[in-house]
Amino acid sequence: MADTIKKEDFANDLLAEESLDGNIQHVNNPVLDLPQIEKKYLSSVKNYVQEGNSYLFSDGRSRVEVKVVTEEIIRVRLAPQGSFLADFSYALAKREEQYVSHTIEDDERYYKVKTNTVVCLIEKSSFLVSFQDKQYKEFNTDHAPMHWEESPDFGGYYVYCSKEAKEDEVYFGLGDKATNLNLRGRRYKNWNSDTYAYAFNQDPLYKTIPFYIGVTSGDAYGIFFDNTFKTFFDFGAEHKDHTSFWSEGGEMQYYYIHGPQIMDVVKRYHSLTGTHQQPPMWAIGYHQCRWSYYPDQRVREVANEFRKREIPCDAMYLDIDYMDGYRCFTWNKHYFPNPKKMISDLAANGFKTVVMIDPGIKVDDNYWVFKEGKENNYFCRRGDDYFMEGYVWPGRCQFPDFTNPKVREWWGNLYKGLVDDGVAGFWNDMNEPAVFGRGTFPDDVRHHIEGHRGSHRKAHNVYGMQMVRATYDGLKKLYKNKRPFTITRAAYSGVQRYSSVWTGDNIATWEHLRLGTLQLQRLSVSGLSFCGTDIGGFTGEPDGELYTRWMQFGVFSPFMRVHSAGDTRDREPWSFGPEWEAICKKFIELRYKLLPYIYSIFWQQHKYGEPILRPIALLEQHVQKNMLREEEFGFGDNILVSPVLHPNQTNKVVYLPEGDWYYYFNNQVYKGSQEHTIDTPLDEMPIFMKGGSVIPEYPVMQYTGEHRIDSMKLNVFFTIGETDSYIYTDHGDTFAYEQNVFLEKHIITQGTENSLTILQTIEGLYTERYDSCVLHLIGLPFEPQSVNVDGVKVQVQKDDQGVSIAVVEKDFRKVLIQ
Ligand code: GLC
Repeated sequence: MADTIKKEDFANDLLAEESLDGNIQHVNNPVLDLPQIEKKYLSSVKNYVQEGNSYLFSDGRSRVEVKVVTEEIIRVRLAPQGSFLADFSYALAKREEQYVSHTIEDDERYYKVKTNTVVCLIEKSSFLVSFQDKQYKEFNTDHAPMHWEESPDFGGYYVYCSKEAKEDEVYFGLGDKATNLNLRGRRYKNWNSDTYAYAFNQDPLYKTIPFYIGVTSGDAYGIFFDNTFKTFFDFGAEHKDHTSFWSEGGEMQYYYIHGPQIMDVVKRYHSLTGTHQQPPMWAIGYHQCRWSYYPDQRVREVANEFRKREIPCDAMYLDIDYMDGYRCFTWNKHYFPNPKKMISDLAANGFKTVVMIDPGIKVDDNYWVFKEGKENNYFCRRGDDYFMEGYVWPGRCQFPDFTNPKVREWWGNLYKGLVDDGVAGFWNDMNEPAVFGRGTFPDDVRHHIEGHRGSHRKAHNVYGMQMVRATYDGLKKLYKNKRPFTITRAAYSGVQRYSSVWTGDNIATWEHLRLGTLQLQRLSVSGLSFCGTDIGGFTGEPDGELYTRWMQFGVFSPFMRVHSAGDTRDREPWSFGPEWEAICKKFIELRYKLLPYIYSIFWQQHKYGEPILRPIALLEQHVQKNMLREEEFGFGDNILVSPVLHPNQTNKVVYLPEGDWYYYFNNQVYKGSQEHTIDTPLDEMPIFMKGGSVIPEYPVMQYTGEHRIDSMKLNVFFTIGETDSYIYTDHGDTFAYEQNVFLEKHIITQGTENSLTILQTIEGLYTERYDSCVLHLIGLPFEPQSVNVDGVKVQVQKDDQGVSIAVVEKDFRKVLIQ
């Protein structure tokens, strides 16, 4: 059967080049122009052996491992000559190997490896692999047997896998790709790249997340191709009915992740690669950044301006100019004569200080970091043993090999001085790694790779991830029980365990605002929920309207930071005049009101692997039309937004999923499962609260934890029927949650025409510092006569908008309103 597959179908894979916008352009006739590259395919299955959770199938020469990882996750690996590479991955979170019950059956045509959820079929004659559910419904099927070719560049293989693409199939994922949500019809490359002022559809960008989700006939599955070399994904671009992925080295090793809900796939991808740690509360406030704020007088001035104008802000950033000649871990004493004092003054005023650290270390024998790195042999070397040198901000640099655990340990400790100075967070940039002129390192640079040694071809895509891992691990020790805040530009799958991310050097255009909404939704379903854009655009000049609309989207970006290049005009919330300032202030205040909700959705991400931003396709997968909707998205369970993405836009059409939705600014109720035209005056944007939800709200503070609150406001949005809500709290900045010192509140509302019941269950050991909650009962269809809290009557009052309110004990179990 393998021989009957037309090999020409695949031979062109390498003979197509991508234009900048990712479209395929075929180069001239390969037969005439290039030496033929022979692809080798698996032939028929001869036998198999079982080893624990793995089945090893052989065609006499090559072997394929099918490993049952969990009931819903199966790993497939190919060893062209029969021996597998060491089983090692940077992406995977540590987890205990568990026994999973599974069986193998075979009939004339197939071997079938079965768990209680998934069946992996291996066709005997062809070696085609496919995945079905227990009802034998097909989810994902090989189009060709796995194949490979000897690399013309080095001694290893290029490895390929090609799948059927169903007519209705759509694809999500792949991290920060600068394109529409549905990836279909294009080819993508993963090679972390410094891409200043990137364009829509430009590829690759800064991150490598070789994970996608396919949805066909309403069912979803995921594929995670865990390979750090340069990888490619083609979603029906070259052949409209095939989806292929391949790599210029390493092993064909992928995880099939079963759905059938997109949410299940994302959660299971998280179970493999980990989640973000719960961030410190301040890290989800509003942050102000600029390349660069200096000298210290300017930093103080900007910070004071926030307080004077009463615009909340939690963090000020120092970009590269705080350093002495761009030497990492030093201060420019001319601009910052007393950094410790500046940082502590800022802290007294409620600001955290976050500073930049790049990987390039200036070649300078009088600079301690360079000297230590050199003495200990921590810097990367070329194939001929010379040091890898390149120019970055400081001039001539060498670069630590972060794939060496010893180097990471050293790097982590380098932060001690800055931590002692009071710096609260660190920003790792240029870690693709970026080198001026040549882009990045040449391929022959050698890396340690945890003892698996290899060239830059293998280490490139994890370089940034290992840098921020070193940073995070070092900080975790230095801060003791305090949570580190880190942010990185380059990434590989699994980086979420160590860091948040941003989308790099975007542009101040409406197109980039729209692109940002797509990139953040995509990052969220790719394991990187803690993500943000440079609000306002890094390069170029936004006008007040664009800046303000971007700020509005920023409220619903998990990471909310304004940042801009140094050659642009000022970008503080007041820089565009009083009209825009007032709106920006109103929206930053909204972020602060929503903080207890946002903190809760971060925990849902950390603990349960639920993405923070949720494309409509994820919210309502059974509606085919939703597969292509990309402007509205869920922000956690109970808020839906649709940012305004065009100038002078006075209204926009918004689709609302099933249920009742309350327009945030006036509590008007809209019915779901349909589109609505919503007015978009400049000081509003379409924000909807889900009927039945209970959304906690803080009073506006100028920074997180500015003062203690006496009671928690709970906005209860009435609907008929039963709805779940979820609130999480803890200390806000320690790891005590690892010892169960937190509270998880599950709240169920049950609405009828003349009653509302609110049930609460509470888990965890944390004690909130307030005693009561104030329920704001929004949209009740009846005039409440009585409120009964755990058997005790309490009074109903009205707030200044005429909404019924009731003060209840914070630990209530049952409230009945009639
Ligand atoms: C890179 C970063 C940007 C930063 C600049 C200077 O361009 O992406 O955020 O401001 O370097 O450090």
